[in-house]
Amino acid sequence: MHTPTMTATFVPRVTATVDLSAIRHNLVRVREYAPHSRVMAAIKADAYGHGAVPVGHTLQESGVDALAVACLEEALTLRQAGLTAPIALLEGVLSPAEAEEASGLCLQLVVHDRWQLQLLQGLPDATPLTLWFKLDSGMHRLGFPLAAAAELLAALQARPAWTLAGWITHLACADEPDNPLTQRQVDAFAQALQGMPGLRSIANSAGLIAWPQARADWVRPGLMLYGSSPFAGRTGAELGLRPAMSVESRLIAVQELEAGDAVGYGATFHCPERMRVGVVAVGYADGVHRILPTGAPVLIHGRRAPIVGRVSMDMISVDLRGLPQAAVGDSVTLWGPGLPAEEVAGWAGTLAYELFCGLTNRVHYIHRP
Ligand SMILES: Cc1ncc(COP(=O)(O)O)c(C=O)c1O
Repeated sequence: MHTPTMTATFVPRVTATVDLSAIRHNLVRVREYAPHSRVMAAIKADAYGHGAVPVGHTLQESGVDALAVACLEEALTLRQAGLTAPIALLEGVLSPAEAEEASGLCLQLVVHDRWQLQLLQGLPDATPLTLWFKLDSGMHRLGFPLAAAAELLAALQARPAWTLAGWITHLACADEPDNPLTQRQVDAFAQALQGMPGLRSIANSAGLIAWPQARADWVRPGLMLYGSSPFAGRTGAELGLRPAMSVESRLIAVQELEAGDAVGYGATFHCPERMRVGVVAVGYADGVHRILPTGAPVLIHGRRAPIVGRVSMDMISVDLRGLPQAAVGDSVTLWGPGLPAEEVAGWAGTLAYELFCGLTNRVHYIHRP
């Protein structure tokens, strides 16, 4: 999130309003789903485009147990903003200098590969580190083989300045409630750690909602904190979540077009009749996916209006036939209450994660307490 310079003369073209009370509500829902687990909130990628600093403060004040980001740079931003909660680096560090800095900032490091362990072993003995060892239980993205657990524990015990935060694994298909891989991963992880000390963490949002057996000592929700559903065909509202983000732009022109007139680049849409077409000041340079087809909805005055023609860099066109009262200056919602981000993402062949993270630095942010 980068809010562009504002002067009294600017009217923001595109605004992302983030309702921090929705994030607090969604954290309560996490605790209701997983009442016996500690919560590590994933606020990487600028809190999935919601603004990591305000979201981090909100979660910290609401008593979250830890925060998680991808890398040192993201954690540094949070520490510089005064956040004192435990912060885990989900991909760990990339160099000895990063490890030293992370140690100084009291960050928790995920260690997912042998090269990373060796990097840490090369630091001075006295460097204090708090480590999550990541095991690959079947996703085959990051993680040590399950059989390495004992060796990792021995490596930790050899260094008195190292503390074990716990053992972590990640689920590949938790959003598919019938997929047997999740149970296999949970079982394999438990088996590999039988008799070993240390806390366990398995579940992301989908895992903690759909797989009670994956809740373990720590859950790691991301998407659900922002109010979106991780499951195809189920909205956040159905899961008791409140969407935190609403993205709005405005109508900057209304065209009265004739039957047969073409709209936008490539002339891909032809008016089937005499009709009004609105031009909205938002495009792919703001984060509206260019792949959104004719028919994908926006909301004007709480009613749906379909996009027509191609999304361009700074504008989209919309069919105003159902909105005779719509006029220049009217607010247009790209997603938010009444138009779930999950649904818009579906039109773009993607997920709400990518819509949120795709907002660009041209978008103005407003955080409501
Ligand atoms: C290791 C890890 N844990 C937890 C999460 C949070 O996942 P979600 O946003 O699906 O809840 C992520 C996100 O990708 C992750 O990479």
